Amino acid sequence: MKIENIIDFAKYPINEVNNSKTKELIQKCRQELDQFSCCTIPNFILMRSINSMLNDLKTKLNGVYWSQESINPYFSKDEPELPIDHPKRIFTKRNNGYLNSDLFTDDSELKFLYEQQELLNFISKCVGISPIYRWADPLARHAYNMMKPGHQLPWHFDSCEFTLSILIQKPEKGGVFEYCPNIRQPKNENFEEVKKVLKGDRTRVRQLQLEPGDLQIFKGRFSMHRVTKIEGKTSRYLAIPTYVLDPKRVNTPEHARVVYGRALPIHFERNKIRSDDLTD
Ligand SMILES: [Fe+2]
Repeated sequence: MKIENIIDFAKYPINEVNNSKTKELIQKCRQELDQFSCCTIPNFILMRSINSMLNDLKTKLNGVYWSQESINPYFSKDEPELPIDHPKRIFTKRNNGYLNSDLFTDDSELKFLYEQQELLNFISKCVGISPIYRWADPLARHAYNMMKPGHQLPWHFDSCEFTLSILIQKPEKGGVFEYCPNIRQPKNENFEEVKKVLKGDRTRVRQLQLEPGDLQIFKGRFSMHRVTKIEGKTSRYLAIPTYVLDPKRVNTPEHARVVYGRALPIHFERNKIRSDDLTD
Protein backbone atom coordinates (compact mmCIF):
# COMPACT_ATOMS: atom_id res chain seq x y z
CA MET A 1 0.00 0.00 0.00
CA LYS A 2 1.30 3.45 -0.91
CA ILE A 3 -0.03 6.88 -0.05
CA GLU A 4 0.46 8.04 -3.67
CA ASN A 5 -2.07 5.39 -4.71
CA ILE A 6 -4.64 6.93 -2.34
CA ILE A 7 -4.15 10.72 -2.49
CA ASP A 8 -3.99 12.48 -5.87
CA PHE A 9 -0.43 13.80 -5.50
CA ALA A 10 -0.38 15.05 -9.11
CA LYS A 11 -3.07 17.55 -8.18
CA TYR A 12 -2.21 17.95 -4.50
CA PRO A 13 1.47 17.23 -3.74
CA ILE A 14 1.01 17.52 0.04
CA ASN A 15 4.13 15.38 0.58
CA GLU A 16 6.20 18.32 -0.78
CA VAL A 17 5.84 21.01 1.87
CA ASN A 18 7.73 23.64 -0.11
CA ASN A 19 5.81 23.09 -3.32
CA SER A 20 4.01 26.34 -4.26
CA LYS A 21 0.80 24.40 -5.10
CA THR A 22 0.83 22.91 -1.60
CA LYS A 23 1.50 26.26 0.05
CA GLU A 24 -1.40 27.85 -1.83
CA LEU A 25 -3.70 24.98 -0.93
CA ILE A 26 -2.82 25.24 2.77
CA GLN A 27 -3.43 28.97 2.72
CA LYS A 28 -6.82 28.55 1.05
CA CYS A 29 -7.89 25.83 3.52
CA ARG A 30 -6.71 27.85 6.50
CA GLN A 31 -8.68 30.91 5.37
CA GLU A 32 -11.87 28.90 4.85
CA LEU A 33 -11.44 27.06 8.15
CA ASP A 34 -10.94 30.34 10.02
CA GLN A 35 -13.99 31.91 8.43
CA PHE A 36 -16.40 29.00 8.10
CA SER A 37 -14.86 26.22 10.27
CA CYS A 38 -14.93 24.04 7.17
CA CYS A 39 -13.12 23.56 3.86
CA THR A 40 -13.30 21.12 0.96
CA ILE A 41 -10.62 19.85 -1.39
CA PRO A 42 -12.26 18.39 -4.53
CA ASN A 43 -11.09 14.97 -5.82
CA PHE A 44 -8.39 14.66 -3.16
CA ILE A 45 -8.72 10.86 -2.91
CA LEU A 46 -8.24 8.84 -6.09
CA MET A 47 -11.34 7.02 -7.31
CA ARG A 48 -9.52 3.68 -7.27
CA SER A 49 -9.00 4.15 -3.53
CA ILE A 50 -12.63 5.22 -2.99
CA ASN A 51 -13.64 1.95 -4.69
CA SER A 52 -11.24 -0.01 -2.50
CA MET A 53 -12.77 1.60 0.62
CA LEU A 54 -16.27 0.82 -0.68
CA ASN A 55 -15.36 -2.85 -1.22
CA ASP A 56 -13.72 -3.01 2.20
CA LEU A 57 -16.80 -1.57 3.84
CA LYS A 58 -19.15 -3.91 1.95
CA THR A 59 -17.32 -6.98 3.25
CA LYS A 60 -17.75 -5.75 6.83
CA LEU A 61 -21.44 -4.77 6.79
CA ASN A 62 -22.20 -7.47 9.38
CA GLY A 63 -20.03 -5.60 11.87
CA VAL A 64 -21.92 -2.30 11.57
CA TYR A 65 -23.55 -1.05 14.78
CA TRP A 66 -26.97 0.41 13.89
CA SER A 67 -28.59 2.69 16.42
CA GLN A 68 -31.94 4.42 16.54
CA GLU A 69 -31.61 6.32 19.77
CA SER A 70 -32.74 9.95 19.91
CA ILE A 71 -29.96 12.37 20.89
CA ASN A 72 -29.39 15.90 22.12
CA PRO A 73 -26.53 17.86 20.46
CA TYR A 74 -24.10 16.68 23.16
CA PHE A 75 -24.85 12.93 23.15
CA SER A 76 -25.51 13.34 26.87
CA LYS A 77 -28.27 12.06 29.11
CA ASP A 78 -31.41 14.05 29.84
CA GLU A 79 -31.07 16.49 32.76
CA PRO A 80 -34.62 16.85 34.17
CA GLU A 81 -33.60 19.69 36.52
CA LEU A 82 -33.02 21.99 33.50
CA PRO A 83 -35.86 23.94 31.80
CA ILE A 84 -37.79 21.85 29.28
CA ASP A 85 -36.53 23.90 26.28
CA HIS A 86 -32.83 23.80 27.26
CA PRO A 87 -30.71 22.43 24.34
CA LYS A 88 -29.54 19.57 26.57
CA ARG A 89 -33.19 18.51 26.86
CA ILE A 90 -34.07 18.70 23.16
CA PHE A 91 -33.79 15.17 21.74
CA THR A 92 -34.18 14.38 18.04
CA LYS A 93 -34.56 11.03 16.28
CA ARG A 94 -31.25 9.66 15.02
CA ASN A 95 -30.67 6.56 12.91
CA ASN A 96 -27.14 5.81 11.89
CA GLY A 97 -24.67 2.99 11.55
CA TYR A 98 -21.01 2.90 12.47
CA LEU A 99 -18.29 0.54 11.41
CA ASN A 100 -15.96 1.08 14.33
CA SER A 101 -12.20 1.57 13.93
CA ASP A 102 -11.33 -1.58 15.90
CA LEU A 103 -12.91 -3.70 13.13
CA PHE A 104 -10.56 -2.42 10.42
CA THR A 105 -7.98 -4.90 9.15
CA ASP A 106 -4.44 -4.13 8.02
CA ASP A 107 -5.46 -4.26 4.37
CA SER A 108 -7.77 -1.24 4.86
CA GLU A 109 -6.68 1.77 2.81
CA LEU A 110 -8.51 4.11 5.19
CA LYS A 111 -6.61 2.75 8.20
CA PHE A 112 -3.34 3.02 6.25
CA LEU A 113 -4.10 6.59 5.16
CA TYR A 114 -4.95 7.61 8.72
CA GLU A 115 -1.59 6.37 9.96
CA GLN A 116 0.42 8.43 7.43
CA GLN A 117 2.44 11.28 8.92
CA GLU A 118 2.17 13.31 5.67
CA LEU A 119 -1.60 13.55 6.12
CA LEU A 120 -1.37 14.53 9.78
CA ASN A 121 1.22 17.22 8.99
CA PHE A 122 -0.92 18.59 6.18
CA ILE A 123 -4.06 18.78 8.33
CA SER A 124 -2.09 20.43 11.13
CA LYS A 125 -0.96 23.15 8.71
CA CYS A 126 -4.50 23.62 7.34
CA VAL A 127 -6.02 24.08 10.80
CA GLY A 128 -3.06 26.22 11.89
CA ILE A 129 -2.35 24.26 15.07
CA SER A 130 0.65 22.13 15.96
CA PRO A 131 0.81 19.58 17.40
CA ILE A 132 -2.45 17.81 16.71
CA TYR A 133 -2.85 14.09 17.36
CA ARG A 134 -4.65 11.05 16.05
CA TRP A 135 -7.60 10.31 18.31
CA ALA A 136 -6.94 7.84 21.13
CA ASP A 137 -10.51 6.53 20.95
CA PRO A 138 -10.19 2.91 19.73
CA LEU A 139 -13.73 2.81 18.28
CA ALA A 140 -14.00 6.27 16.76
CA ARG A 141 -10.58 7.28 15.41
CA HIS A 142 -11.26 6.41 11.75
CA ALA A 143 -14.75 4.93 11.47
CA TYR A 144 -17.18 4.59 8.59
CA ASN A 145 -20.53 6.33 9.08
CA MET A 146 -23.41 4.65 7.28
CA MET A 147 -26.88 6.01 6.57
CA LYS A 148 -29.61 4.03 4.82
CA PRO A 149 -32.58 5.57 2.98
CA GLY A 150 -34.82 7.27 5.54
CA HIS A 151 -32.00 7.73 8.04
CA GLN A 152 -31.05 11.13 9.45
CA LEU A 153 -28.31 12.51 11.69
CA PRO A 154 -29.66 15.36 13.83
CA TRP A 155 -27.83 18.48 15.08
CA HIS A 156 -24.83 17.62 17.24
CA PHE A 157 -21.25 18.51 18.19
CA ASP A 158 -18.33 16.11 17.72
CA SER A 159 -16.17 15.12 20.64
CA CYS A 160 -12.95 15.51 18.62
CA GLU A 161 -11.76 18.90 17.40
CA PHE A 162 -11.05 18.08 13.75
CA THR A 163 -13.01 15.70 11.57
CA LEU A 164 -12.14 14.72 8.03
CA SER A 165 -14.94 13.48 5.83
CA ILE A 166 -14.47 11.43 2.69
CA LEU A 167 -17.68 10.52 0.89
CA ILE A 168 -17.50 6.90 -0.31
CA GLN A 169 -21.02 6.56 -1.69
CA LYS A 170 -23.45 9.36 -2.40
CA PRO A 171 -27.21 8.96 -1.92
CA GLU A 172 -29.56 9.76 -4.80
CA LYS A 173 -31.05 12.67 -2.88
CA GLY A 174 -30.88 14.22 0.57
CA GLY A 175 -28.04 13.42 2.96
CA VAL A 176 -26.90 17.05 2.81
CA PHE A 177 -24.35 18.25 5.36
CA GLU A 178 -25.50 21.38 7.23
CA TYR A 179 -23.45 23.28 9.79
CA CYS A 180 -23.37 26.40 11.98
CA PRO A 181 -19.79 27.72 11.95
CA ASN A 182 -18.24 28.25 15.39
CA ILE A 183 -21.57 28.42 17.21
CA ARG A 184 -19.74 27.57 20.44
CA GLN A 185 -16.19 28.26 21.63
CA PRO A 186 -14.03 26.89 24.44
CA LYS A 187 -15.64 27.93 27.75
CA ASN A 188 -18.73 29.29 25.97
CA GLU A 189 -21.60 26.90 25.13
CA ASN A 190 -23.78 29.66 23.65
CA PHE A 191 -26.94 27.72 24.60
CA GLU A 192 -29.30 30.50 23.43
CA GLU A 193 -28.03 30.37 19.84
CA VAL A 194 -27.90 26.57 19.86
CA LYS A 195 -31.52 26.52 20.99
CA LYS A 196 -32.58 28.80 18.12
CA VAL A 197 -31.07 26.43 15.56
CA LEU A 198 -32.72 23.41 17.20
CA LYS A 199 -36.04 25.25 16.96
CA GLY A 200 -35.60 25.77 13.21
CA ASP A 201 -33.81 29.11 12.85
CA ARG A 202 -31.77 28.98 9.60
CA THR A 203 -29.83 32.26 9.98
CA ARG A 204 -26.52 30.58 10.84
CA VAL A 205 -26.97 27.43 8.79
CA ARG A 206 -24.67 26.69 5.85
CA GLN A 207 -24.84 23.72 3.48
CA LEU A 208 -22.08 21.72 1.87
CA GLN A 209 -22.34 19.37 -1.11
CA LEU A 210 -19.76 16.60 -1.01
CA GLU A 211 -18.84 14.36 -3.93
CA PRO A 212 -17.09 10.98 -3.68
CA GLY A 213 -13.33 11.57 -3.43
CA ASP A 214 -13.58 15.09 -1.96
CA LEU A 215 -11.86 15.74 1.35
CA GLN A 216 -13.71 17.88 3.85
CA ILE A 217 -11.87 19.28 6.87
CA PHE A 218 -14.20 20.40 9.63
CA LYS A 219 -14.01 21.80 13.19
CA GLY A 220 -16.85 19.66 14.51
CA ARG A 221 -16.37 20.35 18.21
CA PHE A 222 -17.29 24.01 17.85
CA SER A 223 -19.65 23.94 14.85
CA MET A 224 -22.96 22.20 15.36
CA HIS A 225 -23.88 20.10 12.32
CA ARG A 226 -26.32 17.56 10.93
CA VAL A 227 -27.03 15.41 7.87
CA THR A 228 -30.51 15.69 6.35
CA LYS A 229 -32.65 12.63 5.65
CA ILE A 230 -31.41 10.18 2.98
CA GLU A 231 -33.85 9.97 0.07
CA GLY A 232 -33.96 7.52 -2.85
CA LYS A 233 -32.63 3.97 -2.77
CA THR A 234 -28.89 4.42 -2.24
CA SER A 235 -27.18 4.47 1.17
CA ARG A 236 -24.70 7.18 2.12
CA TYR A 237 -21.26 5.94 3.21
CA LEU A 238 -18.72 8.31 4.71
CA ALA A 239 -15.19 7.76 6.05
CA ILE A 240 -14.40 9.97 9.05
CA PRO A 241 -10.76 10.05 10.17
CA THR A 242 -10.32 12.40 13.13
CA TYR A 243 -7.69 14.47 14.95
CA VAL A 244 -7.60 16.00 18.43
CA LEU A 245 -5.69 18.47 20.60
CA ASP A 246 -5.41 16.13 23.59
CA PRO A 247 -3.69 12.80 22.84
CA LYS A 248 -5.27 11.13 25.89
CA ARG A 249 -8.90 12.08 25.47
CA VAL A 250 -11.59 9.66 24.26
CA ASN A 251 -15.39 9.79 23.98
CA THR A 252 -17.51 9.83 27.13
CA PRO A 253 -18.98 6.40 28.05
CA GLU A 254 -22.47 7.66 27.12
CA HIS A 255 -21.35 8.92 23.69
CA ALA A 256 -19.47 5.66 23.02
CA ARG A 257 -22.53 3.61 24.00
CA VAL A 258 -25.03 5.58 21.89
CA VAL A 259 -22.95 5.94 18.73
CA TYR A 260 -20.54 2.99 18.72
CA GLY A 261 -22.64 0.44 20.59
CA ARG A 262 -20.44 -0.05 23.62
CA ALA A 263 -18.27 1.73 26.16
CA LEU A 264 -14.86 0.18 26.84
CA PRO A 265 -12.80 0.45 30.06
CA ILE A 266 -10.76 3.28 28.48
CA HIS A 267 -13.96 5.39 28.14
CA PHE A 268 -14.64 5.12 31.88
CA GLU A 269 -10.98 5.54 32.94
CA ARG A 270 -10.58 8.77 30.97
CA ASN A 271 -14.03 10.25 31.63
CA LYS A 272 -12.85 13.53 33.13
CA ILE A 273 -13.95 17.14 32.70
CA ARG A 274 -12.67 18.49 29.37
CA SER A 275 -10.08 21.25 29.44
CA ASP A 276 -12.31 23.44 27.23
CA ASP A 277 -15.24 23.05 29.68
CA LEU A 278 -17.60 22.07 26.84
CA THR A 279 -20.19 19.30 27.13
CA ASP A 280 -19.90 16.08 25.17
FE1 LIG B 1 -20.43 14.87 13.63
